[in-house]
Amino acid sequence: MTRIEGHDKVTGRATYSAEYPIEGVTYAYPVQAGIVRGRITSIDAAGALVLPGVLAVLSSEDPPELAPDADPELALFQRREVAYRGQFVAAVVADTYENARAAAREVRVTYEEDPHDVRLRGDHPGLYRPEKVNPFYPADTEKGDLAAGLAEAAVTVDVTYTTPAVHNNPMEPHATLAVWSGDGDLTVYDSTQGVSTARAMIAKTLGLPAERVRVVCRHIGGGFGSKGTIRPGTMLAVLAARAVGRPVKVALTRQQLFDVTGYRTPTIQRVRLGADADGRLTAVEHEVAEQSSTLVEFAEQTATPARTMYETPALRTAHRLVRLDVATPSWMRAPGECPGMYALESAMDELAIATGLDPVELRVLNDAETEPESGLPFSSRNLVACLLEGARRFGWEGRDPTPGVRRQGRWLIGTGVASSTFPAFRRPSQATATVENGGYVVRVAAVDLGTGARTALTKIAATALGVPPDQVRIELGDSDLPPAPVAGGSMGTASWGSAVVAACEEALRDGKHGAADTTDALKAQQDLARHAFGAQFARVRVDMDTGEIRVSHLLGIFAAGRIIDEQLATSQFVGGMTMGVGMALMEESVIDDEFGGFSNHDLAQYHVPVCADIERIDAAWIEEDDRHLNPMGTKGIGEIGIVGTAAAIGNAVYHATGIRVRDLPITPARLLA
Ligand code: MOS
Repeated sequence: MTRIEGHDKVTGRATYSAEYPIEGVTYAYPVQAGIVRGRITSIDAAGALVLPGVLAVLSSEDPPELAPDADPELALFQRREVAYRGQFVAAVVADTYENARAAAREVRVTYEEDPHDVRLRGDHPGLYRPEKVNPFYPADTEKGDLAAGLAEAAVTVDVTYTTPAVHNNPMEPHATLAVWSGDGDLTVYDSTQGVSTARAMIAKTLGLPAERVRVVCRHIGGGFGSKGTIRPGTMLAVLAARAVGRPVKVALTRQQLFDVTGYRTPTIQRVRLGADADGRLTAVEHEVAEQSSTLVEFAEQTATPARTMYETPALRTAHRLVRLDVATPSWMRAPGECPGMYALESAMDELAIATGLDPVELRVLNDAETEPESGLPFSSRNLVACLLEGARRFGWEGRDPTPGVRRQGRWLIGTGVASSTFPAFRRPSQATATVENGGYVVRVAAVDLGTGARTALTKIAATALGVPPDQVRIELGDSDLPPAPVAGGSMGTASWGSAVVAACEEALRDGKHGAADTTDALKAQQDLARHAFGAQFARVRVDMDTGEIRVSHLLGIFAAGRIIDEQLATSQFVGGMTMGVGMALMEESVIDDEFGGFSNHDLAQYHVPVCADIERIDAAWIEEDDRHLNPMGTKGIGEIGIVGTAAAIGNAVYHATGIRVRDLPITPARLLA
């Protein structure tokens, strides 16, 4: 189905959060901390206040009133302490964006500076075991006897991989328009992945009842997790609008995104694998070190995929965290699975070489019957089918494993494979379906992140109602609609769709109207391991003199339940795999030890793949009929596409060159070194 809002988007009629025309609007521009750690000693706003158009300067000189338990990243201008470079320490509100920005430069902030530490190290004395890792997993797990499993192994691999900090970089930067009514009700047009969630977070930060807050997001130009929670820019607009009694827009710059909208933590990952002479795993250990800020504990669940992937009698996973003088990391596409599977699937490639097994064969041999860590049966698991179908389509058979021996002129050629996985969860959602003007209107506070949620939900509703899609109109993107969870965690379609189907079924019975809430149905779900799986194949060529790497072909085969729409699904998988190319070869947010912040904070220096970097990507899927998921039989597809891509490319680079680079991104400089 053609994307419902596609025409509006390409003709510029789709309204994004910064674009709502509104009478009397003003603009807020932040002043950012010029030190990494310390205390503000004074803020002199006099030079800003005399400039044309300036309405107010917000800062901790006169802290705005907020709930005492507000999230420290959102509690703007409450404290004098600085926790990281770039933190918002003040803001100017003015009649135009340019006046606000110019005046922000004239706000004089003085500091008392403390020494700082922004460097994650594997032996950092501050590393500790968090209570849990995101969203609710134990930090450590242990099953069987790891020492015995390693001791009895015929072959072992003990390797450490690192991944850098990376930023989400949605095409549409974070933007907010906040409007207070005379009665103290608040409407926020926010670029957010979840209007119900944003409403709850804004209300909690202000200490207001949720009913006083409305959040609207009709269109959003990507988020990849960075808009899954509200960020400081949202609260800046809200507080500035309250201070000046006029609507306020905040549109963050690309550089500001690097400071305050979250990023994926860097990781240091040690993987130890043991296998018997036939290649059967005897032990798997995955230990991860990562960072959070001094403000908030954010513990990425990097080692969790090892708990799901392969059969082994001994399994240990562990997460350690250190609190540094950095901004708080946040959600980024396939949090946990993405960096974790890079390490695990690279180590599996090293194990294949050590055992002399083909890497596809090694993975098939170690496929799990039940979930290794939990012992739960899988609702469905088609990893092997993905590997075999991918191998067939890619032409894997007969691959010579010898590294560094295939040449085409200056190019060395190699191929690699890796597995993918991502959990298939659902969250409670509400929805209504109502007969209106001879058709149906379906209402749900979902957000179309750019994935095509409107279109997918229209198809889901039309199927449930037994009518053509043109008789269904979806209303979403407004917290006044029936509450719904975020577009995130690859849970959107499954969560909203379950409520939409139930509402449609009730509307059919009733003849007029149906309303659904899936909270109880979700609690009654059978306890099963629900995960999507996939297999990624990569072909690369490497210039033997310059180390330039080109990805000639990527093939991803996924088993992700029923696919609602071929075109939308292909876009999701290909988008994820493209982002995986960036992770493998380009993306790195460089933290400067002295400066403390991210020094390559724009798209000139932070590189993402462009069309010219992508030569051929194919995504396809295995038909799955899994009745243990939801009424649609879907597993979610937004994130699994990025999982495994970087490992497949790294494994192919090794196959091409015989050089194993264990630190992402694999740049020419690292390869040549
Ligand atoms: Mo995704 S990181 O759950 O938006």
